[in-house]
Amino acid sequence: MNIILRPGTSQDAETCGRICFEAFTSISEAHNFTPDFPAADVAIGMVRRMLSHPGFYSVVAEMDGQVVGSNFLDVRNTIAGVGPITIDRAAQNQAIGRRLMENVHAHARDKSVPGVRLVQSGFHMRSLSLYAKLGYEVREPLACMQGAPMNLSVPGYPVRAATESDLDACNRVCRQVHGHDRGGELLDAIKRGTATIVEHAERVAGYATVVGFFGHAVGESNKELQALIGAAKTFAGPGFLLPTRNTNLFRWCLQHGLRVTQPMTLMSLGLYNEPTGAFLPSVLY
Ligand SMILES: CC(C)(COP(=O)(O)OP(=O)(O)OC[C@H]1O[C@@H](n2cnc3c(N)ncnc32)[C@H](O)[C@@H]1OP(=O)(O)O)[C@@H](O)C(=O)NCCC(=O)NCCS
Repeated sequence: MNIILRPGTSQDAETCGRICFEAFTSISEAHNFTPDFPAADVAIGMVRRMLSHPGFYSVVAEMDGQVVGSNFLDVRNTIAGVGPITIDRAAQNQAIGRRLMENVHAHARDKSVPGVRLVQSGFHMRSLSLYAKLGYEVREPLACMQGAPMNLSVPGYPVRAATESDLDACNRVCRQVHGHDRGGELLDAIKRGTATIVEHAERVAGYATVVGFFGHAVGESNKELQALIGAAKTFAGPGFLLPTRNTNLFRWCLQHGLRVTQPMTLMSLGLYNEPTGAFLPSVLY
């Protein structure tokens, strides 16, 4: 078995996207969870966007000349996000995942990235074990939340669409909560038209890139997150990720009719600051 790793190119989108779709679908179905991607095209589209975005590092594994897996590193922000990492079902458990992880870690070291994070499916024993062996620490148990939009507003916490002129104020809130900002990712979301901000006492007190699987949110307190969640027209993708140690917010979501669709885990390697505010991580951390 001859395995090589090489950078991803846009030509890999179809094959890597299909492997990504099948790998996630089979592990979800094996545990009776709804798959993360509703169709192969959704995963292929996501992989295509990541392969062509300069803010993502990508690596592809080939076994005997056939593509068998890929991994990504989101380097748009100070802290990098790992994933999605997926291996062809027939090639799993043969140390290819370990090599793809070590490859993105080497890239992070070359770029002097102080810390990397990822979110793993809480029911997947293999990925949990692999990441722990590679040095990751469990930081937050998460619940993926889904349900009907709440259509509610929180008095004193108005929500509106974010514009580029809000970027500095949003980054300030993120630094206050996490110790670093996620400005690169936020700017992408503002350009895409999905980002919202919440104001309190006439200043920006929180934001969401999107309330959903691929978006993150921060707020000075739970009130800001309640306003952002309450105003969301939909919870994009499989749902948004809620740190369940934030019991008050978790209970509030349950009282407003949302349901838990799957358990997930936020893990980190390297620099990690315990958050000092309310937050929702994205599936990329
Ligand atoms: C998760 C995934 C990327 C791992 O890649 P892989 O090539 O199958 O995994 P590897 O063989 O490199 O590593 C698996 C490790 O976990 C260990 N392992 C597997 N199951 C385990 C268990 N139940 N308990 C303890 N250790 C276990 C293996 O022994 C191996 O350890 P080692 O590196 O010390 O030998 C791959 O299986 C996959 O694509 N899964 C479906 C999609 C997915 O879940 N992606 C990750 C999203 S967070």
